[in-house]
Amino acid sequence: MSTVLDFARLKTEGHKISVVTAYDAWSARLVARSRVDAILVGDSAAMVMHGHRTTVAATVGVMALHTRAVASASGDKFLIADMPFLSFRKGISSGMAAVGALVRSGAQAVKLEGVDGHEDLIRRIVGSGIPVMGHIGLKPQSVNQLGGFRVQGRGCAQADRILKEALALEALGCFSVVLECIPAALAVRITSELRIATIGIGAGVGTDGQVLVLQDLWGVDPGRAPRFVRRYVDGEGLLTNALDAYDADVKNARFPTPEESYS
Ligand code: KIV
Repeated sequence: MSTVLDFARLKTEGHKISVVTAYDAWSARLVARSRVDAILVGDSAAMVMHGHRTTVAATVGVMALHTRAVASASGDKFLIADMPFLSFRKGISSGMAAVGALVRSGAQAVKLEGVDGHEDLIRRIVGSGIPVMGHIGLKPQSVNQLGGFRVQGRGCAQADRILKEALALEALGCFSVVLECIPAALAVRITSELRIATIGIGAGVGTDGQVLVLQDLWGVDPGRAPRFVRRYVDGEGLLTNALDAYDADVKNARFPTPEESYS
């Protein structure tokens, strides 16, 4: 995948879309060599890369820095960058400045959480020729109001509200929408009502595609993972074994060898 048009095409053709996060050049280079369709420079960088407990610590400067690093190595992967906490709530000109910083850093699209109160900004971004991805369900930037990282959309009223938000995002011109941590049946309902592609995380298998945090997929982020995470490799084990092998070689004078030294 290399352009925004591929999202619509893949949905129409009934092909699933795979998206992963990346925050730096070396991991973007590995994703670029894979068959994964698109990369999201998520504001989860605040947690995964900087050790914060939530994503609200991310700033436009931090997101621009990560976006630039990823863009330097992402090849022809479609690159989406997250609008961080409050960057789209301070008025149109401040919001457009944040969008400008991300696009100038190499993003081909921006993602922002929610819809109520920033409809005008979404319209302005789309009207400026920049693709927008919505994000509804669990909105991590609202974690303090939600009382934690909890499943959203259980019960008819909440489910109807989320469906309404999805339809509003489509009407505003978004090219895709992330559905995070909602019941699988609700994700199926939204996916069947929308013409734009739905990308799920913790939303079951019935969406048009999935997004996962790369470090979760690679099993390199220690600690308890949410139930929707699948670790495809024990990266933590592999990498700490490599460190211990290096440590043993250093301590037993097996590293470096003459071939690894200069005469
Ligand atoms: O920041 C992020 O990684 C995200 C994904 C979980 C969708 O927004």
